[in-house]
Amino acid sequence: MIGSGSIIGILGGGQLGRMLILAGRNLGYRFVVYEPTGPSTAGKVADKEINAAYEDEVALEEFARSVDVITLEFENIPAQVIDWLSAIKQVLPARLALYTCQHRQREKDFLKENDFPCVQFEYADSPASLEVAVHKIGFPCVIKTATFGYDGKGQIKLRNAKEAEDADYLWEFLGAPPRVVVEKWIHHIGEFSVICARKASGEQSTLPVIENIHVNHILHTSIVPARITESTAQQADALARAIAEKLEVVGLIAVELFLNTDGKLIVNEMAPRPHNSGHFSIDGCITSQFEQHIRAIADLPFGSTKLYGPAVMVNLLGDLWTNSNCPPDWTDLLEDSKVKLHLYDKEEARSGRKMGHFTVTGETVESALEVAEAHFCKLQDT
Ligand SMILES: Nc1ncnc2c1ncn2[C@@H]1O[C@H](COP(=O)(O)OP(=O)(O)OP(=O)(O)O)[C@@H](O)[C@H]1O
Ligand SMILES: [Mg+2]
Repeated sequence: MIGSGSIIGILGGGQLGRMLILAGRNLGYRFVVYEPTGPSTAGKVADKEINAAYEDEVALEEFARSVDVITLEFENIPAQVIDWLSAIKQVLPARLALYTCQHRQREKDFLKENDFPCVQFEYADSPASLEVAVHKIGFPCVIKTATFGYDGKGQIKLRNAKEAEDADYLWEFLGAPPRVVVEKWIHHIGEFSVICARKASGEQSTLPVIENIHVNHILHTSIVPARITESTAQQADALARAIAEKLEVVGLIAVELFLNTDGKLIVNEMAPRPHNSGHFSIDGCITSQFEQHIRAIADLPFGSTKLYGPAVMVNLLGDLWTNSNCPPDWTDLLEDSKVKLHLYDKEEARSGRKMGHFTVTGETVESALEVAEAHFCKLQDT
């Protein structure tokens, strides 16, 4: 067990790290953040931040030796860095989960080999093989770079053969990546996620199933409880638990799912860390995803993930700042007793950048959604 007062190292300095630290502080933990790009939003609330490259072995060693356990809030950490750090200090989740989830080909192969439902896919490593892959899958389809994609970056949706004509152009547009995955486009009736925490003993705890609405491939709204049947919710929960078990996750894993028009759940992708769709749990559940992650890696008893009531989370992207050249006016949100506002204190607002979120709790999903939409529209209009 890693007790209160211990130091937790976090790879990555984004808002997920920030909220992890804020939750862990309540249990008496201290934090060191390792972030290559410079002073970060997580670093601002940490005890210490190290800004150095992933190739900087001296800084990595200083980081590993200054903490009691290492975790991450960002899965695109080079595997050799994880191996290197693991030789000095335990890294959770360990290599298997990270290595599988940080590469779309390995992720898809894992799902297929273990009979988890996933979209039809093909790989390509050149414009010529891309052409073959696209024609095997058919239209509509989506091309995704195998690594470093997030918020829909590194993706092109193709609606018809005409849009696929110039494979060289598509390849260049994606940045001539080493490898891409071509996926069948799923005509789904909804997107959902399940966040599962697992301890080294194998004990698991899941959050209620979350319904997600994306705008321009970026998560916009998360709704809990998801508007699905009890049986679909149970299947989603069981899928996430089975995946967490197979990947021997210690910490959290978020499993993103589509529900297709035949009522079948299909795994889109997994993230072995806290997930944007779980932010509602800070205000909506007895134990948040962030606290549960700390409990899992520290081997503490799990907290209850019981929902206080229906909750709706809305992301606040940088566009709200850049469209009006000033920060939004938060007065209405702050005055509403049903709303909790979270701002990440990022230095610069950019289009598509996650700057904060707010959570609305209500008597029903419908009433919470109505309040959330009204607030969001008002923020956009001012
Ligand atoms: N095969 C597909 N069929 C239908 N919709 C898809 C498909 N692939 C992606 N999408 C849509 O694009 C969104 C982003 O895709 P995906 O989750 O693969 O990308 P990402 O860049 O890893 O995003 P994030 O990090 O935000 O989860 C999905 O949530 C979904 O709305
Ligand atoms: Mg996704």
